[in-house]
Parts: sequence; structure tokens; C-alpha cells
Amino acid sequence: MIGMTREESTDLLKTYIESESLLNHCKMVAQAMEAYALHLEKEDTEIEEWWTAGLLHDLDWEKFPDEHPDKAVNKILPEKGYSETVIEAIRAHAPERTGKEPETEMERYLFACDELSGFMNAVSLMRPNKFNDMKVKSVTKKLKDSKFAANVPREDIQNGAKLIGKELQEHIAFLINVFRT
Ligand SMILES: [Fe+2]
Ligand SMILES: [Fe+2]
Repeated sequence: MIGMTREESTDLLKTYIESESLLNHCKMVAQAMEAYALHLEKEDTEIEEWWTAGLLHDLDWEKFPDEHPDKAVNKILPEKGYSETVIEAIRAHAPERTGKEPETEMERYLFACDELSGFMNAVSLMRPNKFNDMKVKSVTKKLKDSKFAANVPREDIQNGAKLIGKELQEHIAFLINVFRT
């Protein structure tokens, strides 16, 4: 049991994050995680956990950037009563900080959706119709342009696809569909 409703999680997120673009990123990752959980035919409680891990993965980023995500996984989320599954997935989205590698399916999908969602959002902002007429190639071309969204580690994006056993193109195509309005 996750113990928290979507509304409670969204309220919690908003008490820690003011930046509209970071809130948008959190919502996109939640949306991506939910879509994959549905695609993988997970049970309802698991779908909620996947969505919640996506929504809250960057909870402490704005207020505690130097401790991200340790502050969230060691203090904020346990105090609120979030499940170990959700907390561990959030821990595993930042292995370089936490030392915890993505292992479970949910952990691997969160890792795979995080940086790619951020990158695809950056691509969408360059396009008049955003995600609506975005092609897989629109994304892969930009991935090769090291000056575009230079802060997004391409290696994490490649590794993410590998972690979920997909070709990167397939993963991008799935997410274009998810983010299309
Ligand atoms: Fe993060
Ligand atoms: Fe993130």
C-alpha cells in the first residue's frame, strides 16, 4: 500500500517546488511512469507507486540541491509514510549520489524515463506543435548535437533504454505518444 493519494503527493510536491518547469518535469516523469505501468499491465497499487515515484523523484531538488535525493529518501518521504518501494526507486534514480543502482523493474523504468523526459521536453520547446508532430528522429538528431541541452547526460539516456531492454528509438516513440496532447 502506498498510503498517499495523488492529491496529497501533488500537494507535497508543491510545498517543496516553486519552479513551474521543475513541476512540469515531475509531472511528465509521473505520466511516463504511469503509462509504462499500464503498458506492463501492473496492478492498480503498483500503477500508483510508479506514478508517485515519478512525481516525487526530484522533490528535494529545489530546496536541497546538494543533498538531492538524500534529503527526500532519508527524511521527507519516510516521515510522510511513503512505501519503501517508492523511496528505493527515487534513491536509484541518482546512483552517483546514493550508491544505489536501479535494480527492480520500477527502479529501472524511473531511471530510463527521467533524463529522457527532460531532454524530450527541451526538444518540444523548440517546436511550434511541441510533441504533436514530433518524430523519433527529431529527438535522436538533437541527442547527437552535443551543444543542445548540454547538461543532459547522453550516457544516462542510452543506459536507461538498455536497463529496460529497449532500443532507444522504441523508448522515444513510446514517450512521444505519452506526451502528445
Ligand atoms: Fe533527480
Ligand atoms: Fe528528474
